[in-house]
Amino acid sequence: GKQLRLSIVVFGASGDLAKKKTYPALYELFKKGFLPRRLQIVGYARSKMSSQELRDRLRGHLEKDCECVEQFLNCCYYLAGEYDTAEGYERLGTSLQSWEATMCVGAAGAAAAAGGGGGNGNGNGNGASFLPRLGRLFYLALPPSVYPQVCAHIKTNCSTLYGGGGGGGGGGGGGSPGEGSGRRLLPSREGSFVRLILEKPFGHDLQSSEVLAQHIATYWPEEQLYRIDHYLGKELVQNLLMLRFANPIFGAFFNRHYISNIQITFKEPFGTEGRGGYFDQYGMIRDVIQNHLIQVLALLTMEAPVSLHPDDIRDEKVKVLRCIAPAGPADCVLGQYVADKGQPGYLDDPTVPPGSRTPTFAAVRLFVRNERWDGVPVVIKAGKALNERLAAVRIQLRTPPASIFGSLEHMRNELVIRFQPGEAIYAKMVVKKPGLEMDYEMSELDLSYPERYKGIVIPDAYERLILDCIRGDQQHFVRRDELRAAWAIFTPLLHAVDAGAVTIHPYPYGSRGPSAADPFISESGYVRTEYTWQKLHAS
Ligand code: BG6
Repeated sequence: GKQLRLSIVVFGASGDLAKKKTYPALYELFKKGFLPRRLQIVGYARSKMSSQELRDRLRGHLEKDCECVEQFLNCCYYLAGEYDTAEGYERLGTSLQSWEATMCVGAAGAAAAAGGGGGNGNGNGNGASFLPRLGRLFYLALPPSVYPQVCAHIKTNCSTLYGGGGGGGGGGGGGSPGEGSGRRLLPSREGSFVRLILEKPFGHDLQSSEVLAQHIATYWPEEQLYRIDHYLGKELVQNLLMLRFANPIFGAFFNRHYISNIQITFKEPFGTEGRGGYFDQYGMIRDVIQNHLIQVLALLTMEAPVSLHPDDIRDEKVKVLRCIAPAGPADCVLGQYVADKGQPGYLDDPTVPPGSRTPTFAAVRLFVRNERWDGVPVVIKAGKALNERLAAVRIQLRTPPASIFGSLEHMRNELVIRFQPGEAIYAKMVVKKPGLEMDYEMSELDLSYPERYKGIVIPDAYERLILDCIRGDQQHFVRRDELRAAWAIFTPLLHAVDAGAVTIHPYPYGSRGPSAADPFISESGYVRTEYTWQKLHAS
């Protein structure tokens, strides 16, 4: 009786993100038994199609030959509607209510029967403790331009659970009774909820992001908002706190006395490939640096939180983000890829406006101005159409003072956390070369997940985050003040870039990026060391 009855509404159901990420993640959760048995997933978008047509479209993005697929698809429905008028949302609201009503009638009947009372089936008195929990999760896989209206319409037309109550955001929040419905109010709504998952981009700069946030806040309190940043759902990003605060062996040197510089790298071996229309309005800094990589930086540099409570963690992230000085044009190298070896340049993408100066590569140097990190350059480097796929953090230590081994400048210790591909944590170190001679070389302490955790499938980030949202855990979602602090760091630079005041270096598709990035990175203190790890583990 207390089991959750859950409606998930996917706005933008006919779009790319929904097909490639949202639905496959929901499918995985379904298959693994993490979604309640009483479940409906309603797709909502403007395109006209039937539920059957939606299922046929989704099938291609799901596993082949698994009977779960059809069971999952049977929970998926579709409703066509506009985003800017109330009509579609009214239909959606009504349909959610009637589904919940069906789900409650059974429970109330069972409750009455279990209570042995009058058996009137209307769910009061003895039956109260059996009243089902209701949940509504609205997933907004939409362009942000429609967020304000969508958030308003959902609030007005789709946020009252059956029997009244808007559902709290937090774990135990009960809703207030609905008004004037003439319906019987179910007396208990404990554990029921209405939550929204929002997808980036959250604005364009500090000011637009604040306007958007303010608008959304007039309809939805922060506890009901889940701003998704899928990097926070990655296994090794989630491991950062553990790495630092459960292991003094690493935690102890996380400061300016030992660390020379930090490199956060994101590389993709493909260009915009048809996504240019979206990408061109944002560029590399807004697309991955201001959100995904700055989150990584926050987790890497923040102080220990008071507890693992989501707000304690987010408090620390905000604090450290506010210590980061805003970046200016001198703190970056920007680039845009050009055609090479038969691969198209950025401007050859037909969805990119001719002559665009949007950066597809950015290396940005930041400083955390606090006692722990002052003077340690952190370089975030991200690019499309580069030579490989990689997301990793490289923490480079200083050379040991007064070395008795001669110069160890090119044998610096490095702690590397590799998010993808091939999750790994390894530490480069100097060892005596095995053998009779008293010689030394670089080697590594290596925790490679594919070897150490053979056969363990690491869940997709979206899967994990949607589950967190269903459970009411906001730890891995971005709070409003965090978002604000992140925008504050990049807004001056972004304005300079938009005004055409920053050079954009061309670089060939498939290369390591603009050559100007290399001296920029060495000026930031990074020393290229003898490199052994990749040779051993090249995938
Ligand atoms: C998205 C960006 O947020 O992250 C994309 O919009 C980028 O441009 C993607 O490709 C990278 O995610 P992942 O998980 O593949 O590293």
